[in-house]
Amino acid sequence: MIDWRIHSADVTESTNIDARKGGHGDVFTAKLQTKGRGRLDHKWLSPPNENLLVSIVLDVSGIDVAEVVALPLVAGLSVAEALSGFIQDVRIKWPNDVWVKGKKICGILCERNQDNVIVGIGINVKQKEFPPPIEKTATSLLLENAPEEFLEPQSVLQELLKKIEANYSQWKNGSFKKLHDRIASFDLLKGRDISVRQTDDDNDIVSGRCEGIAEDGSLIVGSTKIYAGEAHVMQ
Ligand code: BTN
Repeated sequence: MIDWRIHSADVTESTNIDARKGGHGDVFTAKLQTKGRGRLDHKWLSPPNENLLVSIVLDVSGIDVAEVVALPLVAGLSVAEALSGFIQDVRIKWPNDVWVKGKKICGILCERNQDNVIVGIGINVKQKEFPPPIEKTATSLLLENAPEEFLEPQSVLQELLKKIEANYSQWKNGSFKKLHDRIASFDLLKGRDISVRQTDDDNDIVSGRCEGIAEDGSLIVGSTKIYAGEAHVMQ
């Protein structure tokens, strides 16, 4: 059992920054972030009080680096499993976005902090309208007709923490294989023609048919394994 300790702020710069002072089991939330951060130096913008903005601190001491790189996928799986309890057609878009019917509902930013990983998660809960350039590519639990009782960030958080707890403990016990099967069942990209910008390799682009997510957490495109990148489905 993880002894979750929830620290709730009304306004903060970024819950991922707050989480730097936390230890295993600390959970930082905010109603509004003034400097919300996304992957690849993007901003994460969210109107006040509408969405879940949370950073969860998990201990990864003693775990091989090769295993730690799979933790973002385990976080994505936890979100996908939690959201599947309220809405249909939830998918993981490698490396760790969660999408519903072709639109993004959740972004995850994992950052290493000494012996911990800070798992920063933004889930769109009650937002009805999104600004350009994401007005047609973002969605929320409200827009996907989730039941009323899950239209509060705090109730989504409770479901999410249950999934994170279960999946983190399996991951820590070395059961990534079992988790991998469940991750694969949510894979949005497998079987599609995609192009991926490799963010750890001079932004080289690899295009081809996606063969799915490998057991080491990489994405297989044609015969190439990609460890870090941004994927786009080709029309
Ligand atoms: C992405 O898709 O680019 C990742 C977005 C991650 C956003 C969350 S919101 C809570 C936490 N605090 C941040 O500043 N970022 C993450």
